Amino acid sequence: MEDQASRLRELLRDGQPAATVAQARIIVVTSGKGGVGKTNVAVNLALAMGQLGQRVILFDADMGMANVDVVLNMSPPHTLTDVLAGRRSLREVLVPIEPGVHLVPGGSGVAQLAALESARLEATVQRLSELERLSDVMIVDTGAGISPNVLGFVLSAPEVIVVTTPEPTSIVDAYGIIKAIDQRNQHARVWLLVNMCASESEARSVYDRLVAIIARFLGVKVRLLGWIERDSQVGRAVLQQKPFVRAFPGGLAARRIVTVAEKLLGFGGAHPGAERQGFFARWGQWFAPRS
Ligand SMILES: Nc1ncnc2c1ncn2[C@@H]1O[C@H](COP(=O)(O)OP(=O)(O)OP(=O)(O)O)[C@@H](O)[C@H]1O
Ligand SMILES: [Mg+2]
Repeated sequence: MEDQASRLRELLRDGQPAATVAQARIIVVTSGKGGVGKTNVAVNLALAMGQLGQRVILFDADMGMANVDVVLNMSPPHTLTDVLAGRRSLREVLVPIEPGVHLVPGGSGVAQLAALESARLEATVQRLSELERLSDVMIVDTGAGISPNVLGFVLSAPEVIVVTTPEPTSIVDAYGIIKAIDQRNQHARVWLLVNMCASESEARSVYDRLVAIIARFLGVKVRLLGWIERDSQVGRAVLQQKPFVRAFPGGLAARRIVTVAEKLLGFGGAHPGAERQGFFARWGQWFAPRS
């Protein structure tokens, strides 16, 4: 185990100075409604942070379609499913995307995680927890909604980005997720990212409306992380199976996501969950049999 851990660290170092990371900053990307841009945000944010000098792990926790793979035009030979089955080590499923940025393909493994009996769940949690010590930042792309599989990640996260579009249905569903965080993950730092908006002022008005309802009914503080306008380059990049920060590096969407990455890093420092249990340890408790 120890040996595997040191080899993993070596792998992720990519020739950079030795890591002093005790605990990666964990950022979970989620939404109430589907199709609002989570995967595009997660992938491009990971690359933008990598470019800003962070060592990043992108964890694909969406057990539906293999979204991250598609956006990156990759077909990883192994996924988390193989790790859970004991066929592969974590090292063997990590896919380098760019220097300092690695993908953990979730595959159907994420759905299987929830079904593990408690002894294996504990061992799995221990193995996954190793990921938390390998990078500066881990970005977790989830599915949408409040199904147990998604909530397990959202409610274990020290930091959550809720993505919404300006559509009323998307905003209402974003409120639903934020309410769940308010009730069961009070210490989380919660960010709102408004995607596919027409302008900054529309993004701010979405944020203001949401915050007005939150202030009435919930205690949680939600910060505006940023926005990405509806931008045809995003769809074109998806068609080309390239992240938009690489397909159109000077484009509007790319500039917005870099601003988002800078804002997150500027905030840095305080990890609301750092002094508590690790992310996967908390997550594992979600599925542990309750006595
Ligand atoms: N800012 C944007 N401008 C224009 N189109 C966008 C933008 N963001 C996302 N899209 C489009 O929306 C589609 C869905 O994006 P994405 O797959 O990232 O959403 P998702 O929230 O991860 O979906 P799911 O809930 O299925 O996981 C993309 O294929 C892209 O074409
Ligand atoms: Mg997705």
